[in-house]
Amino acid sequence: TDADDCVIDNTVVERIFMPREDFTHKGSFGKVVITAGSYGKIGAAVLATKSALKTGAGLTFTLAPACGYEILQTLCPEAMFMESGDRCLTHFEADEDAVYGIGPGLGREPQTVVALIKFLKKYKKPLVLDADALNILAEDEKNLRLIPENSILTPHPKEFERLFGKTDNSFERLELARKKAAEHKIYIVLKDHHTQIVSPDGTVFYNINGNSGLAKGGSGDILTGIITSLLAQGYTEEHAAILGIWLHGKAADFAAEKYSKESMLPTDVVDALSHAFEELN
Ligand code: APR
Ligand code: MG
Repeated sequence: TDADDCVIDNTVVERIFMPREDFTHKGSFGKVVITAGSYGKIGAAVLATKSALKTGAGLTFTLAPACGYEILQTLCPEAMFMESGDRCLTHFEADEDAVYGIGPGLGREPQTVVALIKFLKKYKKPLVLDADALNILAEDEKNLRLIPENSILTPHPKEFERLFGKTDNSFERLELARKKAAEHKIYIVLKDHHTQIVSPDGTVFYNINGNSGLAKGGSGDILTGIITSLLAQGYTEEHAAILGIWLHGKAADFAAEKYSKESMLPTDVVDALSHAFEELN
């Protein structure tokens, strides 16, 4: 590792964390649009939305297909629902005041693919791209050029491979991530047992908290909600990624303590975000 590379520990996150100030209102803490979900995968939208709420965003919207309306309004009453399509997303509004987190449970229906590409052609602010948003981008190399500068991509190893190609080991994967982060001016969050964040300038941040209780479907959706929420609250992209990954792992460690690595669920990780914040406050 290079001298600039850095392990994410308490000192690092305490320096980044911005305590919530008193003389504020919901407008002070940003607007999130979680763009997620399709028939049978509305849970992904629920988890990402709840996480954005529990991370402190001022206003949280979920842009999801109609089949998710009652589920989302019931499970996430604090979030507002924006409808797009019946069973999968068919259009994405481009609200320049909001920060978008796109991808969990999105599916890859042709209409959704067209809608995402169209959105990326006009939307120029940094956003968080995960899961099927990444899989859609991976369908055509030209799509990568549409990613707004300074966006945060959160691929797991398989998604990384689809996006940027196969590598033989984790060292080569990291080198490829460095190259691609610089080329596209993006942050790449390589999700794994020890997640790495690769900055456009080539710096790598290593996360060391978290545990294998996270090795369950839904854990990644939470991270998308957390990072999007931090971005909306005014953290820089680099800080949102670092603090987000630390909060996610820390909450998972609290959930494991309480429920065991086996029985803890992604929902428990969302609930434990409050304990992760207590460590910082
Ligand atoms: N130790 C520590 N952290 C872990 C471990 C582990 N053993 N296993 C997983 N994690 C963390 C990862 O670092 C990441 O933050 O849990 C999260 C898992 O994220 P994803 O792999 O994106 O999983 P998720 O999206 O919740 O579920 C799988 O991804 O490929 C798609 O279609 C697939 O819907 C499915 C979804
Ligand atoms: Mg995922």
